[in-house]
Amino acid sequence: MINDNSTDTITNPIDDSPFMRACRREPTPYTPVWLMRQAGRYMSEYRAVRERVSFLELCKNPDLAAEVTVYAAHRLNVDAAIIFADILLITEPLGLELEFAKGDGPKIHNPVRTPADVNRVRHLEDVSSLDYVYEAIRRTRAALRKDLPLIGFCGAPFTVASYIIEGGSSRNFIHTKRLMYTDAGAWHALMERVAHASVLYLNRQIEAGANAVQLFDSWVGCLSAEDYRTYVQPHSAYIIKHVTKGVPVLHFGTGTATILEDMRDAGGDVIGLDWRIDFADGWRRIGFDRAVQGNLDPVALFAEPDFIINQARKILIAAANRPGHIFNLGHGILPETPVDNVLRLIETVHEISAR
Ligand code: CP3
Repeated sequence: MINDNSTDTITNPIDDSPFMRACRREPTPYTPVWLMRQAGRYMSEYRAVRERVSFLELCKNPDLAAEVTVYAAHRLNVDAAIIFADILLITEPLGLELEFAKGDGPKIHNPVRTPADVNRVRHLEDVSSLDYVYEAIRRTRAALRKDLPLIGFCGAPFTVASYIIEGGSSRNFIHTKRLMYTDAGAWHALMERVAHASVLYLNRQIEAGANAVQLFDSWVGCLSAEDYRTYVQPHSAYIIKHVTKGVPVLHFGTGTATILEDMRDAGGDVIGLDWRIDFADGWRRIGFDRAVQGNLDPVALFAEPDFIINQARKILIAAANRPGHIFNLGHGILPETPVDNVLRLIETVHEISAR
């Protein structure tokens, strides 16, 4: 038999991409960059698609979701794509009635308010009803540049639970904290159901072709550090621990300056830094044995190009060419952001960081 070991020398273009290498804290030829919410309303091509279909229809149409995902990644020349979907899609199989009302943000029509309500949230053993997401991932993978990683994602259990309980976006999270503080058993039962479903969901995304996954804990910053550790950290940790081995997990939150170490302890190969955190200080607190992602203020993209370039340069200087930095905004890109400034930012990060 011929001993053909030629495959030994063939490297997988995705595993070897700057984004995947940075997740593993390996050196890269330049700092990889992508932007949270990179496919969205700030792009006229996205708005044109949305004139024909509602947001939920777009999420549930694998061809259109793939088209929007691939278009944004290729047009921006970013170093990773993120599948077009939403953190709230999982609430439907959990038994909640989700709507994205025009101009109004997400609504859940049967929110969970009492311990008795928690019992009607389903304990899922199967997340096949989100098949449209997996199909969108397969179609995206087929159309995406062969060396571009695709990020799958879900909401972190606190952020998803806050929508399930509040019934929509919130300022003070009164219903959420009231349930947490009045019936810890019911709170943890709800978090367990969300976390369990999220593990199944992420691992199905990975099977379909996602190369890394991100947990979005967008509203976790409303909690004290003690409440985070008591009510949230074990559930985020459960998800991260059960993601398919070898697939990088990016763990993102905002308003997290007071819980950065606790978030890190919950897990994640890459920890997100929001823009309020000084980049150098944030990475030092997390420890240089973890990768970090961030952290330009999304609103900086509304300023003059010179200012944007200067802000990007400051972050790159603070990262000091250490392996394990993925450039991103400190939170999602805003709907009115000028596209030219976004293109300029991506170009600038690639140029300034070239080693
Ligand atoms: O990053 C990407 O390009 C992938 C797509 C993506 C969307 N939502 C598409 C979307 C991702 C990763 C999300 C995550 C998400 N969804 C989060 C966490 C990220 C964050 O920014 O904190 C949250 C909190 C949600 C919940 C959600 N979905 C809200 C609050 C809204 C309304 C926002 C608004 O500005 O109206 C959505 C809708 C939504 N999700 C849009 C998009 C492109 C806008 C829908 C539209 O009008 O076309």
